[in-house]
Parts: sequence; C-alpha cells; structure tokens
Amino acid sequence: MSGPTADAWINPLRDSRDRRLPHIAGPCGLVIFGVTGDLARKKLMPAVYDLANRGLLPPGFALVGFARRDWADEDFGKIVHDAVREHARTPFREHVWEQLSRGIRFVQGSFDDAAAFTELKNTLATLDRERGTRGNHAFYLSIPPAQFPTVCQQLSQSGLAKSVDGQWRRVVIEKPFGHDLDSARELNAVVNKVFPEDTVFRIDHYLGKETVQNILALRFANQLFDPIWNSHYVDHVQITMAEDIGLGGRAGYYDGIGAARDVIQNHLLQLLAFTAMEEPVSFEPSELQAEKIKVLSATRLAEPLDETTARGQYAGGWQGGLEVVGLHDEEGFAKDSTTETYAAITLEVDTRRWAGVPFYLRTGKRLGRRVTEIAVVFKRAPHLPFDATMTEELGQNALVIRVQPDEGVTMRFGSKVPGSSMEVRDVNMDFSYGQAFTVSSPEAYERLILDVLLGEPSLFPVNAEVELSWTILDPALEHWARQGMPEPYEAGTWGPPSAEEMMRRTGREWRRP
Ligand code: BG6
Repeated sequence: MSGPTADAWINPLRDSRDRRLPHIAGPCGLVIFGVTGDLARKKLMPAVYDLANRGLLPPGFALVGFARRDWADEDFGKIVHDAVREHARTPFREHVWEQLSRGIRFVQGSFDDAAAFTELKNTLATLDRERGTRGNHAFYLSIPPAQFPTVCQQLSQSGLAKSVDGQWRRVVIEKPFGHDLDSARELNAVVNKVFPEDTVFRIDHYLGKETVQNILALRFANQLFDPIWNSHYVDHVQITMAEDIGLGGRAGYYDGIGAARDVIQNHLLQLLAFTAMEEPVSFEPSELQAEKIKVLSATRLAEPLDETTARGQYAGGWQGGLEVVGLHDEEGFAKDSTTETYAAITLEVDTRRWAGVPFYLRTGKRLGRRVTEIAVVFKRAPHLPFDATMTEELGQNALVIRVQPDEGVTMRFGSKVPGSSMEVRDVNMDFSYGQAFTVSSPEAYERLILDVLLGEPSLFPVNAEVELSWTILDPALEHWARQGMPEPYEAGTWGPPSAEEMMRRTGREWRRP
C-alpha cells in the first residue's frame, strides 16, 4: 500500500512527532579548525546554536575550537556567545545557551604542533566521559586548503581520525576543492589517505538551501512540469547568481581565484545538476549522486569559447546611492590583478532530454542587485492566431525558481489585457515561501551541519562530482588565462558588454531579475 497509513491520518500529532525524531543528532563532539575566521563566526557557530534552539542537538554534545590564539575555554565561550547573539537566526534563549556552553572547549595550538593535537585528543576524551559525547567526532576544516594536508596528517598521527568500536569520525571540508582538475585530485588524495570517502563531507552550502532542495520537490513530486522539461519545449536555461557586494576584505581568499572558481565550479554546476538530472530511483544518497554524476558527465562548454563565455572585473561606480571603488582599489588586491569578478559560460548537456538546449550560467560581484535564480525559458508557441500587433508585448513563457532573496517560484505566461481587443501581455504567477509557509527556512549551514552529525551525505558533493565540475570548467579557465586582463564593467550594472554580446549572438538576452 502506498501513501500515509490510516493511523497517520487519524493521529496527525503522532505522525509529526515521528517525522522529527530521526532528525535529532546522536551524542557527538564537533571540532572546528579555523575558528577565528569569518565563516565560523557568521555561519558555523550561529548554526550550531540554532540547531540547539530547535532541539536538534543531543544533551551529549560538545563544541571544540582549535586555533593559535591564547584563549581559555571561557574566552572562546564568549566568542561563540557574541557570534550567536549577532548572527543566529532564532531568538536567544538563556537556558539553551546555558546547556550548549557547558560543552564548549578551546584547544590552543598551530596546525603543525603535534602536542596541540595530543591536547585535543585528551580534551575530546574528557568530553566523552564528562559530557557523554561517546567518542563520535566531526572535524570541520574551515581553513585554507593549503593547510588540509598538515591537519589531516596530524589527525591521523594523533589517532584522532581512526574510528574504534563503532564510534564515528567524519571530516568536513570547505571549498575551494582545488583550483583545477589536477589540484583537486591531489587534494582528494591527501584527504582520502586519512579519511575514507564515506566519511568526507564536502560543503557546498547552496545544497543546504531550502529553495535548492525544492528543485527536487518541484520536479519529482509533480506531474505538471516533467512533460515539458526537455528540448521539445525548453528554449534555454539561465542560472544566475548575482551579488551586489564587492570584495573589500576578501583579497586573501579571492585574488587569483575569481568568480568562476568561487561560484560556477561548485554552486552553479550543482544547480545545473539538480535542474537537468533524471529522476533518481530514490533519494538514497548513492542514487541521487549517481544521477548528478551522470548529468555532469554529459555536460561540456559550448564552443568557440571566445563567443560562448564572458569575463569581467568591476570598476568603480555607484551602488545603492554610494560611490564604490573598483577591484584594483580594494584593499589587498594588486593594481594589476587579473582576477575576474564576473564570469558567464554556455554549457551543453548531451543527453536525449537536453540536446540543443543551452544552459547559460553567470555570476558576478557588484552587480545590479543580489539575486540567485534558475530561469527555465520556454520556446515560443509554434503559431499565434492573433493580430501581430496584439502580441508585441508577449515574451517567452518561463518558470523561474527564485533561490534567494525572495524565495519562491514564478511562472510567466501571456494573458489577455482587459478591454475590447485581444491584446496579450506577460503576467507572473507567484509562489512565495514567506506567504505559503508560516515557518522560516533554516539557514543552509544548520541543515548541513546537522546532516554531518547524522551521517546523512545526500547534500554533499562526492569526489567524482568535484572532479567532473573541474573537467567542465578547466578549458574556460585556460582560455581566460591566455587573455590576461578581464573586461571592466561599471559597479551597479549587470556585467561587461561581452556578456550581453554573448547572448545577443544567439538571439537571446539575459533576464533582468
Ligand atoms: C560563497 C562564495 O560560497 O558564497 C562567496 O565564496 C559568496 O563569494 C557566497 O559571496 C554567497 O553565498 P550566499 O549564500 O549569500 O548566496
């Protein structure tokens, strides 16, 4: 029998309680390396608190910070407290904080200091005894990849990486996973030498977003979309991640990396995979990964790259009523930095479903506004039985998945303008998360940290996906490296002229979200 049991219909309370239970983490300790960084302060520590506040962490939970600072447990506790106060999503509740703070510890040391790792081991063993974390440990490497080898080696040598007696060990790594295919392979080899692949959790925080997971619900829980989700009906797909912020303060990470490595290699190719993949047999991690791997294997850059890609760097301009500087005047960037802050590529997906349908991906800093969306743009109707002047303002139908900030889905289609003539114009039909659901969406990091603690890998790209994404992107990176300086674009606009030209050449244009 399929569908809910009779009992579930009769007793919805019991049903909802049953649904929650599997989502509470078991006893464990979370160790964060790189605890003095921005990510830890703005996202990781607040997410841990939000999970505690939602009742999703067990009483036997500990949070351990590892860094070079000369801090005592209380100093670190204060740092976590302030980060939570400033950035947590859910309200501050004294008793939740009290409970959480009892399990907070700090270990001082540098990554190459074996004694510090012995100290970490002792601290975790004490927490196992005193706080009941039961020897289950997750190591979150919120550090530059150049330091992965040292930390992994220390974790291995100190015996911390090895699981014994059914206890689990997991490692969480943040991007960039290399800067091209070769370096990604090296990095993976280093990590996998110490942590088997099924214990490695690679964070792509876009997959933790509700609106991204909703792509799967939209496509695979409904009958409405699948019949038209293919080259017979779809003209092209545009995936946009635009940001209005600049790169002040981020030179250390961003210079030499650029927009394509920072965002297209991971977030945007994952969005493409969710949009273009076939229905998985189930949502078991291996089934979902298999479909993503399959579609990424079929994806490649359209050529010639001169015409199908574009790259830019923001110059000074006006944004939100303020005058802002160009990249070369941002602190920490070399005056002749060739790092791109805008990148656009055209992809082809060589499958029966998508042959001939271009996927346009673009991302940039200091653009018109902050917006991430996937727009599936449909072909025009083969015939319009209207007077031509009546359909002048009719565009192409589109289904737009609004990832952020105004989360939801928009359907755009033509409608009759009220009046005596048969004039047709585009209108939008909107679904908005804020209106449809009363609960606010969890932050991506809440979901992903919880999944690490639960050992649920569905939303984490595996090694093969990372390598395939580099395989897709590398030719564009090499092409751009030969070109030198990216084309400038004015801050607050929608990117360089060559990006507009790239679309115009195919008779299309970028959406202005
Ligand atoms: C990160 C990138 O992965 O995503 C940043 O490194 C970018 O450059 C950020 O600003 C955007 O995340 P979000 O969730 O605000 O869209």
